[in-house]
Amino acid sequence: MSAGPSELDRFKAAAAAAAVAMVEDGMVVGLGTGSTAAFALDFLGRRVANGLRIVGIPTSEETGREARRQGIPLSTLADHVRLDLTIDGADEVVVATLGLVKGGGGALLREKIVASASDRLVIVVDETKVVSRLGARSLVPVEVVPFGWETTARRLQRLAARLARRTTPEGPPLLTDGGHYILDCAFGGIEDPERLQRQLDATVGVVEHGLFLGLATRVIVGGPRGVRVIDRPRPG
Ligand code: A5P
Repeated sequence: MSAGPSELDRFKAAAAAAAVAMVEDGMVVGLGTGSTAAFALDFLGRRVANGLRIVGIPTSEETGREARRQGIPLSTLADHVRLDLTIDGADEVVVATLGLVKGGGGALLREKIVASASDRLVIVVDETKVVSRLGARSLVPVEVVPFGWETTARRLQRLAARLARRTTPEGPPLLTDGGHYILDCAFGGIEDPERLQRQLDATVGVVEHGLFLGLATRVIVGGPRGVRVIDRPRPG
């Protein structure tokens, strides 16, 4: 599917608006990172200005700054170990499983911590993010400890066709909010994401990775015909 930037923004905004409509008074809400989650922040800020009472837990320093600017009251996981709902974006979504690749914006570690502490994780994407196999289009970010990162990269090279340490536009390596590096890995279309997840989880030096499996409860896809809502089937 091809869509111009402003059209994509319309799709993102429509998905974000549908997710923000799920937020109710008194909720603790996880605030995602990225350009689609930014639309959700904007809508949430407007609802807060109109009297909605919530507290937000941001998934990155950048989101925290933007949420403050929007007047959204913030809190931390120290005060709220469980969240009612998190709204976040994704780089890839497989509709059949609600498996995701995340971390294009570099916030995957906090995003996964917040998602794992949430009763519901609502993912907002435009239609270009829907894939039939994870890794088909996006690189999968793997967050690693800077100490000995070269040896970690070597271990990851056994799993990935190629990888590159992410850099800032100015040139030096990008440091995440947690002070780690990101190695963007090309796995190609991943046949068995659970297996790859186990392999990455077992790799020394890896802090976290961008495979989000079994976490999303709902995906909202914005496209030319409005939004499509896909829910994870309830167990049993
Ligand atoms: C941030 O680290 C990411 O997980 C984003 O949620 C993801 O990259 C989607 O970003 P966009 O909504 O900007 O495409």
